[in-house]
Amino acid sequence: MMDQPETRINLGENFTLYAVATVQVPDSGNFVSDAEYLPARSQNLDLLRKFQPKCGMSHSEIQHRADFSEIRYAQCWEDSQLLTACLKPAGRDCLSIGSAGDNSFALLAAGAASVTAVEMNAAQIACIELRRAAYLTLDHSQFLELLGSRSSIRRGDWYRACREKLSGEVRSFWDARSGAIADGIGSAGKFERYFATFRNYVLPLAHSKKEVQSLLTGKSLAERERFYQTIWDNRRWRWIFQIFFSRTVMGALGRDPEFFKYVEGSVADRILARTRHALVKIDPAENPYLHWILTGAHGEVLPEALKEKNFDLVRHALLENRFRVVEASLEGLLAQEPECIYGAFNLSDIFEYMSEENSSNLLGKIISASQPGARLAYWNMLAPRARPESLADRLISCNDEAESLFEQDRAFFYNRFIVEEVSG
Ligand SMILES: C[S@@+](CC[C@H](N)C(=O)[O-])C[C@H]1O[C@@H](n2cnc3c(N)ncnc32)[C@H](O)[C@@H]1O
Repeated sequence: MMDQPETRINLGENFTLYAVATVQVPDSGNFVSDAEYLPARSQNLDLLRKFQPKCGMSHSEIQHRADFSEIRYAQCWEDSQLLTACLKPAGRDCLSIGSAGDNSFALLAAGAASVTAVEMNAAQIACIELRRAAYLTLDHSQFLELLGSRSSIRRGDWYRACREKLSGEVRSFWDARSGAIADGIGSAGKFERYFATFRNYVLPLAHSKKEVQSLLTGKSLAERERFYQTIWDNRRWRWIFQIFFSRTVMGALGRDPEFFKYVEGSVADRILARTRHALVKIDPAENPYLHWILTGAHGEVLPEALKEKNFDLVRHALLENRFRVVEASLEGLLAQEPECIYGAFNLSDIFEYMSEENSSNLLGKIISASQPGARLAYWNMLAPRARPESLADRLISCNDEAESLFEQDRAFFYNRFIVEEVSG
């Protein structure tokens, strides 16, 4: 991969956005398509080299284009409530894209017979493994402190308590990241650092801390409408969106220009409309994703995997060996274990990073690994992906169900939610 040119985008007197420009991969002719997948500047190459994907037989398209040496997502940024509502995980064997693990643990808490978390980025595996050790070792409030959901000066102690339950590689990975542990492991990813930049440097251009607190305080729908119109939706707020989600800045942040070919009208207008929906129609006081984006912690408002009522359910499921994590691409895992059949699939938004043709091929393989009635859930952000007509007889689109769940999506930056069911 070629070196990355760094781009500086001046967003006014007080703020300069540092971005990494899209680069061409010489041997494939492809473009690196997403900021999250751009190579991190690793300080410990030897250690990270050990963390390369192990399932070499069948790679994912994105694996040919990206470096997987750092944490991209220190939390799952897809709404776990939508997943548990449509996948109906109770009693099912679930296959779940790992990311940082939260949504896979949410499926366990919802009664999945088993959860296989598959993840091709070894740094993400380290996030999942540390969560698993923490469920097994800590009490609920220590667990929340380690994650950064709540403030703490004892995160190093909680990590040391979990350390013995980690594999040697994962232990070395986290031993080398004492700063990330002290800050809370849920803030250690590149995506969370984008949010921190937004929170610390961009949001204050439009809103004071007091206004942010007021936004997050419980209100009726009518009060939220009024608050949004009179306080929140000011000129600077709208300006931030026009700048941040302009094609120029998103392109400079690494989104492949190809993605925009499907987007009608302004991306900024669309994301602003979705954000308005999340701030008005869905109660911000009960939105854990919004709490973290705006305050850098969850406080009392937690996603499913972190709720106290689910803590022991996850711990028991782990003790019953109903969870495994596999370092591989989904494509590689399905090829390696053709005998494994699943009843539910959390697919995150992995098709976003694949061509339509590769997405259709993978959907075909997923159907082959499904029991009749198996359910699939995934998100689109910019690239529209859903089952093609050629699979219509094997995969039923559950559009009404997906649309009504999408109305309640608290992680509001996606464009569409897809639910599909394998024919019986
Ligand atoms: C798809 S990303 C989530 C992206 C986030 N929702 C966004 O759009 O910015 C979540 C995780 O999926 C993993 N991933 C992506 N494609 C995969 C594949 N084909 N097999 C296994 N894991 C994959 C990535 O390594 C990442 O940790």
